[in-house]
Amino acid sequence: MFSFQKELSPKALSPVVPLILKALVYDEKRGACSVGSNVRDAACYVCWAFARAYEPTELKPFVTQIACALVITAVFDRNVNCRRAASAAFQENVGRQGTFPYGIDIVVAADYYAVGNLNNCYLSISVYIASFPEYTRPMIDHLVAMKINHWDRVIRQLATKALHNLTPQAPDYMATTVLPQLLPIALGIDLHSRHGAILASAEISHALYKLANQNNRPVTELISSDCVDGLKSIHQRLFDRKQYRGFGGELMRPAVCSLIENMSLSKMPFRDDPVITGWQWLIDDTLKSLHLISAGPRDGIKEAAVSALAALCEQYYQPQPGVADPQMQEVLVSQYIAGLKSTEVLTRCGSALALGSLPRFMIHGKLHQILSGLQQSCSQREVCFTEARRDAAKAMAQVCVTAGVSAQRGSDSMVCEGNVSAVYRALLDCMTDYTLDSRGDVGAWVREAAMTSLMEVTLCVVGTAPQLLSPDLVNGMMCSLAQQSAEKIDRYRAHAGSVFVRLLHSNNPAVPHIPHREELLAIFPTDGAEGLNWNAPSQAFPHVTQLLRLPQYQYHTLLGLTVSVGGLTESTVRFSSQSLFDHLMLIQQDTAALGQFSEALLHVFRDNLRNDRVSIPFLKMLDQMLARACFDTFTTDQDHQFCVDLLALCKEEIKRSKDTQKLRSAIAVFCGLIQFQGEVRKKVLFQLLLLLCHPFPVIRKTTASQVYEMLLTYDDVIDPDVMDDVMTSLSDTNWEEDVATVRTHRNQLCDWLGVQKPQLVAKGPVQ
Ligand SMILES: *[C@@H]1O[C@H](CO)[C@@H](O)[C@H](O)[C@H]1NC(C)=O
Ligand SMILES: *[C@@H]1O[C@H](CO)[C@@H](O)[C@H](O)[C@H]1NC(C)=O
Repeated sequence: MFSFQKELSPKALSPVVPLILKALVYDEKRGACSVGSNVRDAACYVCWAFARAYEPTELKPFVTQIACALVITAVFDRNVNCRRAASAAFQENVGRQGTFPYGIDIVVAADYYAVGNLNNCYLSISVYIASFPEYTRPMIDHLVAMKINHWDRVIRQLATKALHNLTPQAPDYMATTVLPQLLPIALGIDLHSRHGAILASAEISHALYKLANQNNRPVTELISSDCVDGLKSIHQRLFDRKQYRGFGGELMRPAVCSLIENMSLSKMPFRDDPVITGWQWLIDDTLKSLHLISAGPRDGIKEAAVSALAALCEQYYQPQPGVADPQMQEVLVSQYIAGLKSTEVLTRCGSALALGSLPRFMIHGKLHQILSGLQQSCSQREVCFTEARRDAAKAMAQVCVTAGVSAQRGSDSMVCEGNVSAVYRALLDCMTDYTLDSRGDVGAWVREAAMTSLMEVTLCVVGTAPQLLSPDLVNGMMCSLAQQSAEKIDRYRAHAGSVFVRLLHSNNPAVPHIPHREELLAIFPTDGAEGLNWNAPSQAFPHVTQLLRLPQYQYHTLLGLTVSVGGLTESTVRFSSQSLFDHLMLIQQDTAALGQFSEALLHVFRDNLRNDRVSIPFLKMLDQMLARACFDTFTTDQDHQFCVDLLALCKEEIKRSKDTQKLRSAIAVFCGLIQFQGEVRKKVLFQLLLLLCHPFPVIRKTTASQVYEMLLTYDDVIDPDVMDDVMTSLSDTNWEEDVATVRTHRNQLCDWLGVQKPQLVAKGPVQ
């Protein structure tokens, strides 16, 4: 460490300080990486060293400058290490020099830990520090000069929000100096500066509006008419210069959408001004051309356009409170309903969300049209429209909540009884969306949106007209949620579980007709439900499997569990099967309960025959159940119906199947079914002997080895006299040889086992 006193005499401070202050904000982007944080960090260190090297009197002339620069770095630097270094240097100066304005207060507010969180720095610590007059303008000026044009979009956006929050500290300065300074930049050459300046002018104007509004004054009393004109002209100028196109357009569109939203919320006096037509064009063009925008920023843009639309309608299409401009209403509603049928999926998404964002007076008189458009959109099951179904499901709840619910019939403005059931039907149907594409289970997006929407609609109906909720609807919803909360993907299971519990616990008023409400409350008590981590299989499944005890939920819970137990994710399989088998152990001796469970099991299988998403995991689950002798009490009956039915369903399931995974699981199940006594056992053996001559060599081989093991496990299956011959044949035959050769061995086995030989059927499917 070099000594400042030796190297730098107090006289030398005056040329050095400006350099250090410059270094404190040095930030440049070269290619993909930023340079400058080392420089800034070092500059903080120098300021720290100043505190120790000089007498307060020597440093006095520079105190305000250094204090401001350090504060600015401590709260606005992009790099956390620099913020912390600046905070430390500031603290050192306060401690040793004692001359920093409001030093102690700032040290407390912006300490090492506080400056760790960038959002907190920009949005809240900055406001506190700027309340001390020495710092207000330097902080604002710094944001305008260095941060709203920053190369990092996050910093630009935070800076504009910081300016919003700082506006009440210096309203006049913002209105008369900053805003006029920003408007030319908003139309400048540099893309980043333009982006930041548009957002900043939007934010500052809105903040000024709020200040004016507190005194019941219009915003135009604070913002000069030149500035108002400047704000108004931004859109047209960008349009004329074609700056909504291409890469730059991806930044300009959301920025101007934010501007539209903020201008509308600020009640700018633009009604019937041509700018409104221009703004509406931008919103609609953006929603229509989402597919031309690169995938990354798309979501933000969609949301920005939709929020802008809502604010624009509210302010400019409402000539009287609660009444829509009839022409605009007609044009927009039909345009978005038409957009729901676009061939572009993203246009469908944008149109659905646009409908979802419309204010109440825009829906008035058009509710049924909108709801039925959204319902249709939800039900278009083409793989390529998955995102559109998701957004339509989301919008449906938004529209219902905006319109409100009424028990009276016949208005086209409020959701009535018939609409409630139609909405539930559509959303419940979305819960069965298991669309797969190259991205995986994309149907889950639809299911997730439908769950949220069901919750929102339910809370809304319950709040105003609970009598419209029939037991059927509530039952359907709760069962469907129970199913989802037993499924395999952590995130969606967690979402389902939290919606389920939220509806169960909702109590002003309570959701009516929830089946087994009391028992559910015992499983998910009101206190402690928040502590349950649905994401963790180890916590979720022990709770969910308790629903198997409740007749109304048994089927759906089992259906959900099937894909978890028979799935592929290790921890999900482990905890779900453990919980399931714990349940089965409990009901082992309870014939009625076991009977009911096995009925539900058959039911799940029957309903999902050849639906591979469920049936393959089902076979795996069944194999495990049989291996653990879960149905031991049935096996001693002659030809127990459960076994007869399972056998028939398994046969049906593998008919003509070429899926080796499925066939292997079925072989395992057949081997497990051998436990059952009676004629049915011969039939099971017959199936296995058929599979010994399956067209796929690997299946023949698997069957032989599984039957071999099965005969070792269940030694009462065959006559001890032929045991050795059978076992030798199974193990010594090369089952991968051609079918004709293998068949003679198989037929010999049939004789030994006393099973009828399968006949060759002309062109028969299975040997
Ligand atoms: C105003 O504009 C900003 C963008 O600068 C945006 O984030 C915000 O949502 C808009 N609306 C309001 C109410 O501030
Ligand atoms: C809503 O309910 C009304 C009145 O029962 C009915 O005429 C209309 O078709 C329903 N619309 C939808 C979309 O459910």
